Amino acid sequence: MDGTSGRRREHWGTRVGVILAVAGSAVGLGNFLRFPGVAAQNGGGTFMIPYFCALLFVGLPICWAEWTMGKYGGMFGFNSCPAIFGAIGRRPIWRYIGVLGILVPVGILMYYVLIESWCLGYAVSYLCGTIDLGGDPAAWAQRSGEHFTRFVGADQDGIMLSGGIHPSVIFWVLTFAVNFFLIFRGLEKGIEKVCTWGIPLMALCAFIVLARVLTLGTPDPAQPDRSVINGLGFMWNPKPVAGEEPWYVVLANPQVWMSAASQIFFSLSVGFGVIINYASYLRRKDDVVLSGLTASATNEFFEVCLGGLITIPAAFVFLGAAIPMSSSFDLGFKTLPVVFMHMKFGNFFGFLWFFMLFLAAITSSLSMLQPAIAFLEEALGIGRRASVAVLGLATVGGSLFIVYFSKNLAALDTMDFWVGTALIFVLATCQVILYAWVLGVEKGGAIAAEGAELRQPRVFKFIVKYVSPVYLLAVFVMWCSIKLPGYVKDLAGGGVPLLTVGMIAGLAIFLLLLISVGGRRWNAETRPEPRLGDVAPPSREDVKGWEDAI
Ligand code: ALA
Repeated sequence: MDGTSGRRREHWGTRVGVILAVAGSAVGLGNFLRFPGVAAQNGGGTFMIPYFCALLFVGLPICWAEWTMGKYGGMFGFNSCPAIFGAIGRRPIWRYIGVLGILVPVGILMYYVLIESWCLGYAVSYLCGTIDLGGDPAAWAQRSGEHFTRFVGADQDGIMLSGGIHPSVIFWVLTFAVNFFLIFRGLEKGIEKVCTWGIPLMALCAFIVLARVLTLGTPDPAQPDRSVINGLGFMWNPKPVAGEEPWYVVLANPQVWMSAASQIFFSLSVGFGVIINYASYLRRKDDVVLSGLTASATNEFFEVCLGGLITIPAAFVFLGAAIPMSSSFDLGFKTLPVVFMHMKFGNFFGFLWFFMLFLAAITSSLSMLQPAIAFLEEALGIGRRASVAVLGLATVGGSLFIVYFSKNLAALDTMDFWVGTALIFVLATCQVILYAWVLGVEKGGAIAAEGAELRQPRVFKFIVKYVSPVYLLAVFVMWCSIKLPGYVKDLAGGGVPLLTVGMIAGLAIFLLLLISVGGRRWNAETRPEPRLGDVAPPSREDVKGWEDAI
């Protein structure tokens, strides 16, 4: 039991279970749909230099910081980001900053579940053999694009919710229902169980599809250049981003560094508020260092070794270098169906591909629900049934908004930009400041060391304290100068972008009100200060010192 609030505290069942749960959160649509397009458009092999820099200097350090702060928050008996931030920051302002740890996962979930339902819809269509692009190969690309546009309602606002029941709305309802059923079952019986079965199954599907792609050879003898080897070269050889500049000039392009950092955050689920929540269910003697590293390495394997070898090489073999990839959806939902038309047993491989995407997505979307469930339980003192009901209403409402404003996927795109990119940067920055400058790298290191099965390298303290904040700041400034003006102009134009941002702001205000309610509850409860094995609990002087330091 949580000694003060009377709630029964949840914990992970097994060590492997928690690693698979965090890996499940990380491995998602970002690995298979977003990564290949981003890498191919940003220099191919050259992209991996900024990519691995982002992994080493911000991704992994902030990931470890999140694991450590989450475990420390759990020692106070807290599981939600606002309460954990408040306990570590020791000032009410930190609780309010912690709102980002709820707003980000809930906001992303609203559109992520929709994409997840498209994957389910496509998987079922392949299983039933109902995706028919006709008999003329020259028309397949166009028909595939039209099918996608119809399926997601991208030609007109409101079309999904008018004129009878649209098939994709059925999949949307089903996907929501499955997510909420699983989250209702709880941490161990819901999330942990799904990830323990889902990740190996997802890996199996991915390996089968990969084996098929790598054995495609040169399917059209009339086009000898279109071979698997050339497809891999097209994806991974260093290449210019624009024009004919030598490959290394790509590294001077800020856009490439920015894309790499965004990809790392999105892919590792760092700056989402998810890891801090998941880690809060650890027991104090549990390891965070090796577990964090293992979960991140698993994600990288799925991203680079599977995501990076499937979509683009497969598309190249059948379609050549002219692969449309201006959006993540182009590759996965428009181009690959054409590839499956060319393949023998295309329906089977199409089903495997979209079923694998669905599995990858559901283990991620569950992780976006749990932080808010923990928050509602903690802030309002309500049980799981009530918190699931409140969260269900809020997220279905938000997602319905995105389903309604489907024209050109404008609402989805706006949410992805403001919540799925901008707020992730802001939350990651707050987390690194809280860990390195408020909690302190020494104390953070001591918390991480308790029960650790691997020592954090000494340089980690320096990186997380100085390099990560500077790196984040630099990327954020680049991002503001390159991307922000266009989206601000869209906002000034009113319409769907403005409505969408209004909805995000409304949700933020609602959550802030709940934090102020929860804050009173948290103040009234006496949370015993956790004692660390060989580190004394922070004294008043310590706390004063940290406050002075910021
Ligand atoms: N990390 C999750 C993904 O890559 C959200 O899709």
